[in-house]
Amino acid sequence: MGGEPRYRYEELAGFITDLVDGGTLPPGSRVPSVREISRQRQASISTVLQAYRLLEDRGILEARPKSGFYVARGAPVSLRTPAMTRPPARPTRVTISGLVVNLLEYAADPDLVPLGCAIPSPDLLAAGRLDRFLARAARVSGTENNVYTHPRGDARLRGEIARRALRWGQALAPDDIAITCGCTEALTLALKTVARPGDTIAIESPTYFGLLQVIEAHGLKALELPTDADTGVDPAALDQALRTKSVAACLFASSFNNPLGCTMPEDRKRTVLALLARHRVPLIEDDIYGDIYFGAERPRPFMALDPDADIIYCSSFSKTVAPGYRIGWIATRRHMARVLDNKFAFTLCGPALPQVALADFLSSGGYDSHLRRIRRTFQDNIDRMMRAIDKAFPAGTRMSRPAGGFVLWLVLPRGARTRDLFVRALDEGICFAPGDAFSAGSRYANCLRVSCGHPWDARMAHGISTLGALAGTAAR
Ligand SMILES: Cc1ncc(COP(=O)(O)O)c(C=O)c1O
Repeated sequence: MGGEPRYRYEELAGFITDLVDGGTLPPGSRVPSVREISRQRQASISTVLQAYRLLEDRGILEARPKSGFYVARGAPVSLRTPAMTRPPARPTRVTISGLVVNLLEYAADPDLVPLGCAIPSPDLLAAGRLDRFLARAARVSGTENNVYTHPRGDARLRGEIARRALRWGQALAPDDIAITCGCTEALTLALKTVARPGDTIAIESPTYFGLLQVIEAHGLKALELPTDADTGVDPAALDQALRTKSVAACLFASSFNNPLGCTMPEDRKRTVLALLARHRVPLIEDDIYGDIYFGAERPRPFMALDPDADIIYCSSFSKTVAPGYRIGWIATRRHMARVLDNKFAFTLCGPALPQVALADFLSSGGYDSHLRRIRRTFQDNIDRMMRAIDKAFPAGTRMSRPAGGFVLWLVLPRGARTRDLFVRALDEGICFAPGDAFSAGSRYANCLRVSCGHPWDARMAHGISTLGALAGTAAR
């Protein structure tokens, strides 16, 4: 915030800012009244007001008429957003596996500050309620469910998923849905259904490394497309790629791409669908972060915009309620027969009991209020993380501004190598995800992804300030 305070009102502003940054005053909370602070800190009313106005100008507080001052939502940060990415326009064989294999192991290490994997803190999940449903399902119908099921999965769970999808205009029958082992198996089945080894899949760049691993495992090539940190894939670049290359399918996030956090506005989604229809290229969409939106409404997936388009939809409950249950789903009308053949061939069917428990959990009510709570927590975590990064990271760093999900993408000044930084950060007990894991061609060597899936506390704050200092050294 720029040097030592010179005036009393600046000192007061610093005092309030520390309370906000330290988490005592979370985003959206009411700050003590001008009178209260005036009494507590022995400052005049006009000095406190001047401090509050300064904080309002800085975007830290907002005044609400007849109600007082509140901590603003959305972090006022000075770091610029990442520029549109410019990957080379040629399909690449993917060799990512060695780069990411340790990340899950580090994520399970309680001694590391958990900025690495995009896994929500277990404290945020509705674990207790879900455990009770699982115990009850085992007691009441354990024997009955100790069987092979249809590869489609539990009918009640598929019904619950279809009912929820209808809310954002995605009209699905339960039989358009098959339950999978997480979103990962949904993506695997989708790619197996529309592509053969050697084919090219067009993807966002950067993109989730697990997706790159699936592409690699299928012997496919990845064509990385220029992607904007706010609005997603550049339709002009997609158009050019579809005109000049043989693309078997596109695989895009429905919203809040991991790691950039970008979401295509609806009109752009429609443009993309029109392009794909013209070139007869199917779309696989990954909507795993769709329920974690910070705006007024859930962004609609591509499938909701055109039910007749050639789309395979993939999602899971891993980011909102149960990463350990490994329950996801795939939705498609056109390709369901092949999806089920492949599901049968790969895993036969999923475990029945967790599906029964999750169906009970969803039908019992309370999932929406759980989602509201975690959305608020993730947004608060992101706000605090952004503010801390803004303070701690070297000048010239760029940072994404996601409107959902719980990861941040940082671009360090050119020359900084986040693989080396990763090793140094681990020595300091901090984990993050290095940028080269998010590209088929090992691009983004000066970038990193930070997860905000764990509640903000002193350990996280210390982790970010240490990481920022290390990044400063790496950037010099
Ligand atoms: C974009 C994206 N898709 C899919 C997955 C994998 O999901 P699941 O754990 O349900 O297999 C992840 C997990 O991080 C993800 O970020």
